Amino acid sequence: MSSFPNYRPRRLRRTAALRNLVRETHLAPAQLVLPVFVRAGKKLRKVVESMPGINQTSVDEMLRDAEAAAKAKVGGIILFGVPETKDATGSSAWDEKGAVQLAVQALKKEVPDLVVITDVCMCEYTDHGHCGILKNGEVDNDATLELLSRAALSHAAAGADIVAPSDMMDGRVGAVRSALDQNDFSGVSILSYAAKYASAYYGPFREAAESTPKSGDRRGYQMDPGNAEEALREVRADIAEGADAVMVKPAGPYLDIVSRVKMETGYPVAAYQVSGEYAMICAAAERGWIDKDRVMMESLLGIRRAGADFIVTYFATEAARQL
Ligand code: PBG
Ligand code: ZN
Repeated sequence: MSSFPNYRPRRLRRTAALRNLVRETHLAPAQLVLPVFVRAGKKLRKVVESMPGINQTSVDEMLRDAEAAAKAKVGGIILFGVPETKDATGSSAWDEKGAVQLAVQALKKEVPDLVVITDVCMCEYTDHGHCGILKNGEVDNDATLELLSRAALSHAAAGADIVAPSDMMDGRVGAVRSALDQNDFSGVSILSYAAKYASAYYGPFREAAESTPKSGDRRGYQMDPGNAEEALREVRADIAEGADAVMVKPAGPYLDIVSRVKMETGYPVAAYQVSGEYAMICAAAERGWIDKDRVMMESLLGIRRAGADFIVTYFATEAARQL
């Protein structure tokens, strides 16, 4: 390349039109996915204190939020359930009349433009709050696979486009893929939370989903924050087992992982801008310390620039409206 004074990068920054012409990364509403928390009932809207603007909602109220998202051209929605009853095996996870299952049916009927993704995990449904069933105080990997498959099947039967296992059990993508295929759901996609780290940024989510583990933590199954090579192994394993797209989570502190996963696999990559990332931006903005809209957009653009094809974010509707 040429060097100064021939090379003057400022020349292409002089006007907005010039900058637009050479911008490398674009953010579009269709690349955003809105997470929602659904529970049983009617006209229910319960504030989540640590996540301004986010509520637990009954299915009817969730539809209002989904319609607003669709109107702003948001690409999809990901559903989390808050069940009425919890037990040791998380059996309401595959209840065909569960909030998530009913929400999927309602969305397919009422808001057909949104891609419907369901989070598949046990932690919202188990009384101990772990992502799988316990045996001698430890999460039993292989016994959990069967339950995850049942939950995924119930979501597929309700009409989900994509199921997204987030439990981090080994072999779950293969188990879910074969359960789907054996039950005539070979067209339902799997978005695997392939590189999901044991992160302190999930704090506010656990209030929203009422899924805090009663004892211990998730370090026995989620990834150690120091590891990058292992993330690539996780991703390759999930792809080999049949994942159609892979997710990195959290997003902001793990952009190196997003970048490597995209470059080294070429697969569709999602990144999850998690509850703590959202809460920090909202909290600093509330104090007047940062400009919320600009930080929101910059954080999302940065995730795209790193290599994410789409982003799961609590800002989805707000950001889409501004695009
Ligand atoms: C549960 C799950 C978690 C999130 C998504 N699915 C939390 C956890 O692992 O405790 C976090 C999302 C967020 O923080 O926004 N398997
Ligand atoms: Zn979980």
